[in-house]
Amino acid sequence: MPDTTRRRPLGHLVRRILPLAGLSLLLSACSLVRIDNPQNAWDPRGPIAERLDGLFWMVFWIAVGVFVVVQGAIIFAVVKFRDRPGRAMPKQVHGNAKLEITWTLIPALILAAVAVPTVRGVFDLTRCDSGALQVNITGHQWWFEYDYPDYGITTANVMVIPVDTPVCASMTSEDVIHSFWVPALNGKRYLIPGQTTVLPLEASEAGEYWAQCGEFCGLSHALMRARVVALPPDEFDAWVADQQTYPAEPEPGTPAFEGLQIFQQRGCAACHGVNYGPDSEFTNLLAPDAFNGPELTKFATRDVFAGAYLPRDGETRREALAAWLANPPDVKPGSFMPNLGLTQEEIDKLIEWLETLK
Ligand code: CUA
Repeated sequence: MPDTTRRRPLGHLVRRILPLAGLSLLLSACSLVRIDNPQNAWDPRGPIAERLDGLFWMVFWIAVGVFVVVQGAIIFAVVKFRDRPGRAMPKQVHGNAKLEITWTLIPALILAAVAVPTVRGVFDLTRCDSGALQVNITGHQWWFEYDYPDYGITTANVMVIPVDTPVCASMTSEDVIHSFWVPALNGKRYLIPGQTTVLPLEASEAGEYWAQCGEFCGLSHALMRARVVALPPDEFDAWVADQQTYPAEPEPGTPAFEGLQIFQQRGCAACHGVNYGPDSEFTNLLAPDAFNGPELTKFATRDVFAGAYLPRDGETRREALAAWLANPPDVKPGSFMPNLGLTQEEIDKLIEWLETLK
């Protein structure tokens, strides 16, 4: 058989490369068309995330420069020195001290230039300013708990912060390793049992930012979500004042009151605290070392629950609660909230009661 692999015209080369170039354009388009995703890591909404983003783009454009130069040199060599009929073998070169020093030195300088802001960023972005608003975050399978020690507030799933204010999250875990990630506000940081890690957060505009557990932590890891809500300072103060009040006790004889009784009698109260104030017979404070689910005192002020996974798109909170209370592990695989075999009537009354917790 004649050797056909050695003499290929330029057109053949172009026909080979064009489809590949088209494919890579198509693939990059896939990621670009969905740039408005709520967990988009390229949409910084605060000074810390902006710094990360700036670092990313700096490294990206340096990499683009390196890519163009290296690929350009390869393509130039491939085209210029390709085999053609009647052409002699190009000059063969082995070793060139000047060239080798140059192409060792240039990458070393580039790496050093990238390393300085990277290493500085690694330290700066995991350190809190003194005077930052303190929020303690505890990871649980599969939800995040937030404590505001300065305000005596404990809440879950929705973390409320003031806009344009440095926030310092001190984080730990109750069970396995989790990771708290609010792409719009900062990078990921582990929550480790028995240790405290620190994550500064700051939002420069009011809004709702989606967060996600960033470390595989069991069956419902992907459903371990969170919301960070940044409010203007006056609205944040109003939120704090509201969270510090106790919900009104339901009137005896109402469905909500019966719901509260079901909460107490059917086992819910073993894991969920609810605080009607020190003088109320309905206050249920868990022992500090008790296995706990989310604190329910201000449940109805949070628009998401079950690790910020519910309600799902197109579902009201009542619909989501009905499905959740009927069979938690069916909605969220592995959920430690068991199926208590509640009747539809019990579920309806529990929902009536939960809606009064505000
Ligand atoms: Cu918690 Cu993944």
